[in-house]
Amino acid sequence: AYTAEPFLPDRGGLPALRRAAAECRGCPLHRDATQTVFGAGNAHARVMLVGEQPGDQEDRQGKPFVGPAGRLLDRALEEAGIDPAEAYVTNAVKHFKFTRTEPRKRRIHKAPTLREMTACGPWLAAELAVVEPELIVVLGATAGKALLGSSFRVGEVRGALLEREIHGRQEKLVATVHPSSVLRAQDDADRKAAYEGLVSDLKVAARALS
Ligand code: URA
Ligand code: SF4
Repeated sequence: AYTAEPFLPDRGGLPALRRAAAECRGCPLHRDATQTVFGAGNAHARVMLVGEQPGDQEDRQGKPFVGPAGRLLDRALEEAGIDPAEAYVTNAVKHFKFTRTEPRKRRIHKAPTLREMTACGPWLAAELAVVEPELIVVLGATAGKALLGSSFRVGEVRGALLEREIHGRQEKLVATVHPSSVLRAQDDADRKAAYEGLVSDLKVAARALS
């Protein structure tokens, strides 16, 4: 089976994890991507945000949520009363998965499979063990499935404060939609409604932290 497990360091904090993850060959996604995009932000953050996988910009820059979805997320966080600079941000899968319609054409994001999410899980587990956030914000279905199992549905649990056991630890979580889904909305009215929904869920997270 695909797994990142043999690439995890025996000891060390986030810097050791980041260095080791850069060499991960735990699943085939490292082959076509530019680099591993490990989590970033405050190592002592009270809140950890978990997305799906790096996008095109993140793959080029090596940092999570630095593209359009990241800008939207930062704006929504600030509006909800969470300082993005105080958070730790990461993804369920650490390499960009994409297809191209033609060689040299734009790279189009492709959802990771359950096997790839499972393979990459040890990195997320290690980040949780080191950062020990008080609250996890689950951004979309992939993050939810990676943390809570394949039966996770955003629509069923979004905007509620959840308590679940993850890797033997009781965690508090708030789930919401992925910021990219706001950007994909059909028209301005849908986009505005989706954005308001995201902010409203993030306010539940902000309240849980206060
Ligand atoms: N979407 C994600 O899920 N993560 C990123 O880092 C960027 C876009
Ligand atoms: Fe390793 Fe995850 Fe990248 Fe797969 S996606 S190679 S498991 S870091």
